[in-house]
Amino acid sequence: MEIVVSGIRPTGNLHLGNYFGAVKSFVELQKEYNCFFFIADWHSLTTHLQPENIRRSVKTILAEYLACGIDPEKATIYIQSDVREVAELYLYLNMNAGIGELMRTTSFKEKARQQLRISNTDASIEKEIFNENNKHSVNAGLLTYPTLMCADIIIHKAVKVPVGKDQEQNMEMARRFARRFNATYHTELFPEPASFHLSNKALKVPGLDGSGKMGKSEGNAIYLIDDEKTIRKKVMKAVSDAGPTEPNSEKPEAIQNLFTLMEIVSAKDTYDFFNDKYNNCEIRYGDMKKQLAEDINLFCAPIREKINDILADEVYLDKVARLGAEKASESAAKTLKEVREIIGFRP
Ligand code: TRP
Repeated sequence: MEIVVSGIRPTGNLHLGNYFGAVKSFVELQKEYNCFFFIADWHSLTTHLQPENIRRSVKTILAEYLACGIDPEKATIYIQSDVREVAELYLYLNMNAGIGELMRTTSFKEKARQQLRISNTDASIEKEIFNENNKHSVNAGLLTYPTLMCADIIIHKAVKVPVGKDQEQNMEMARRFARRFNATYHTELFPEPASFHLSNKALKVPGLDGSGKMGKSEGNAIYLIDDEKTIRKKVMKAVSDAGPTEPNSEKPEAIQNLFTLMEIVSAKDTYDFFNDKYNNCEIRYGDMKKQLAEDINLFCAPIREKINDILADEVYLDKVARLGAEKASESAAKTLKEVREIIGFRP
């Protein structure tokens, strides 16, 4: 089976957008590939997570992935910091990565500006980095985010990496560093990892605020962990309008979003019913939203229950983390032994 690796940043709870956009595909992938899914807790240090937050977010993400159907017997699900071999490979990759190429990556530039408290229009990042009077600094881990990501991937010799389009530049760097390692040491140890865009297959879930997709920061999301009352409150508050005045008119974005959500979670009859009402200018958004909230709750309830059960079962969570760490370490240690030998260290 081909090897697949993907990392999940432990930032908050999963929402419906994450579920339909990624997690559901992961659940499919574990049947056909040798999957390594890990929680990128080292990566989260690049943006200053506090220790107690890390522990809590890692636990939450783990429970949520398990509740969604990631099967620790099929896939290897582990916590990045449990596999120290990754850090050693990261060290070697850093020796072969240029500061310049790392500084030119878009995500570095964006996050560095935030850490330096300079705006998009302000002077160059380089100038501020060297400015002794700026009391803020960019942490070096942020600069080397792409080499760590490369280490995550090639430590298992992955050939496919399911990621969003926003990760394309990081993936290009990962391929470049893998190639460079091979070229430097005249080896073919590492295959070039290809990105495998979920967005082609996955559903894009709209948000509740009338525009764009569901996302964490925009406050327009329904989380898998939300209870019935919260779901109802959020859906009832979703942006709509006064309703169509002409039969069969085109739906404005906010309305289309409600219909798209309904298409995802409701039965086809339900969708058709409200669609006809819309086309006849008889739609009552209050009724539609009530139905939508009910159907979202029907979808979320079993997952929510599982999340809560798993969260309450520390013994199980610990067992899963330990099993994942064991499987991932075995694969990582094998690669690292080869790497050490190739470079000239005792294996
Ligand atoms: N950078 C990825 C993100 O922000 C997370 C990640 C870290 C990752 N290491 C990875 C993804 C390795 C795929 C493979 O979503």
